[in-house]
Amino acid sequence: MRRKVIAGNWKMNMLPNETMKFIEELAPLVKDTKNEVILCVPYTDLFYALMGVQGTNIKIGAQNMHFEKKGAFTGEISPDMLKCINVEYVIIGHSERRQYFNETDESVNKKLKAAFEVGLKPIVCVGETLDERESGKAFQIITSQTEKALEGLTKDQVKNTIIAYEPIWAIGTGKTATSADANEACEKIREKISEIYGKDISEEIIIQYGGSVKSSNSKELFDEPNIDGGLVGGASLEANEFGKIVNYK
Ligand code: PGA
Repeated sequence: MRRKVIAGNWKMNMLPNETMKFIEELAPLVKDTKNEVILCVPYTDLFYALMGVQGTNIKIGAQNMHFEKKGAFTGEISPDMLKCINVEYVIIGHSERRQYFNETDESVNKKLKAAFEVGLKPIVCVGETLDERESGKAFQIITSQTEKALEGLTKDQVKNTIIAYEPIWAIGTGKTATSADANEACEKIREKISEIYGKDISEEIIIQYGGSVKSSNSKELFDEPNIDGGLVGGASLEANEFGKIVNYK
């Protein structure tokens, strides 16, 4: 049985004092869960978040990083910079990064490799636009993004990658994919992984759903056989609401 992994993606929200308060509120709410709980916070909150979660079952991730080790890349953060302060996870290739910051399948692939090189666990995002869904290309897009993101990784690395299926039309819009549609998309991704890396790996890899997940729809989504938890944006900004999502059952 795969575990369920529920990650909050705070995006560009929350100051250090809000981060500390949030974690103080969330920790007792999720302390008994069997699900994995991750908060992906802005760079400037990482240190505070890492302090705050000590002695709890909450894990901390970043939302992006560069693939280079070091150098003249003003404003960028390297994989080592995250690793050395004990960040455990990193989101890679979120659709907002692909859309506003020119991330490509190629840079996503480089970032995945760079993450594994230092021992960070990547959460890599794939997803189709509304146009792509309506023209029947959704599965082709998401399986191709998956294939390109994972290219050149070892089987073991693939097994330890978390994939977040996030249809772009469902992010921050209040529109959620139906649980059946979301499950089908995650299933297609799993089939692609099985085709390339074998059934064993495809049965172990965690595939999350993201896009307007909230406490009122999390159970239905996460109970689907191919959905192993969620990447939660807006609804992860309020401790009580996020706690309910983590404790969906
Ligand atoms: P949302 O965002 O839950 O606010 O739709 C999800 C995401 O972008 O990861």
